[in-house]
Amino acid sequence: MTDTDDAYDEPLFYRVIQYAVDADRDVVDMVSGNPDWEPPTALREGLKTYADGEPRDFQYQASEGLRVLREEIAARRNVDASRLVVTNGAGEANYLAMAEAMERDAGAEFLLTDPVYPYYPGKATMLGGEATRVPVHDDGHVDVAGMRAAASADTAAIVLNTPNNPTGAVYDIDAVAEIADVAAEVDALLIVDEVYDHFDFSGRFESALTLDRDHVVVTSSFSKSMAITGFRVGYAVFPEDLVEAARTRHMLVNVTGSRPAQAAVAQALDETPPSYYESVRDTLRERIDAFTTALDAAGAEYTTPEGAFYVLARFDGFPGTMDNVERLIDEAGVAGMPGEAFGDAYDDWIRFSLCTDRAAEAADRLAEYFAGR
Ligand SMILES: Cc1ncc(COP(=O)(O)O)c(C=O)c1O
Repeated sequence: MTDTDDAYDEPLFYRVIQYAVDADRDVVDMVSGNPDWEPPTALREGLKTYADGEPRDFQYQASEGLRVLREEIAARRNVDASRLVVTNGAGEANYLAMAEAMERDAGAEFLLTDPVYPYYPGKATMLGGEATRVPVHDDGHVDVAGMRAAASADTAAIVLNTPNNPTGAVYDIDAVAEIADVAAEVDALLIVDEVYDHFDFSGRFESALTLDRDHVVVTSSFSKSMAITGFRVGYAVFPEDLVEAARTRHMLVNVTGSRPAQAAVAQALDETPPSYYESVRDTLRERIDAFTTALDAAGAEYTTPEGAFYVLARFDGFPGTMDNVERLIDEAGVAGMPGEAFGDAYDDWIRFSLCTDRAAEAADRLAEYFAGR
């Protein structure tokens, strides 16, 4: 368990991207989590329809989100629409949830996993809280006993992400339920970021909403599931007693979200068949297979994702530092994220995103590079 006062960590991400762009050679970008596949057809149609709408449709909508979208989400998630705030992506949803955790005045510490999606410790610090990271098990799964040992009266919230970026673990719902108990025992919130919920290859994913607990906040978005990270449409489902404050904060910061984007997402939610999501998962399964097969050839240790779309790989004698990531860009033509960006637990590793149809080629390059070292 480590304390950290990490500030906003994301510049590292942009630094790697910039380094890859500036490189004097062809580089396969496996850094970003920007899907390279098609959004649902109905999404494009929804946008086109919107463009021909009346001027009144281009004005402010309800702050908490377009009613038709809230109703679609509520029906799908089996919650009352009154508990929903439509946000600018899961990013804002996580911010609102963490801000409400601080506002409850029941502690100022956020329990996170190590490794962790770097925006959580960044937000904890921004909100005047502290981040404590609890290392995950060797298989990437959350350490329930570790969370229990770390929880105290000072814990404002425990933040989980499943399916997980970067480990690819899909947490058992029983583990999430136990952590919800831990949070309740110390009067903290449990925030569960389910932004990768459509990317479950294990068949085990169950939303924390099914637990139906009164101190659990679930966040998600359409950024990944509809391949629209630029649209900025996400949501948070709050307990009844917190939703009003979250709505007010959302309104004071944003007024409201993007109406055309929300309208297009509502249409896509209504009209997109399950086969869309299944075919994206199939594509990703193929990429995982091709990439990990070539990693075997490179003699690397790696994680096979149960969910989400990242592979962590460890190359002998080649820790996941920024220097080594730059070396891989220059000498192998493959860009990944340094493991140290996600904490200490995986600082020997490099995270590769599968948002590229060149994953197999990248792995071949890695195999060739490490064979020659
Ligand atoms: C775990 C996690 N949460 C949230 C986000 C951000 O999602 P959004 O684009 O919906 O803000 C990401 C993006 O990579 C992510 O990996």
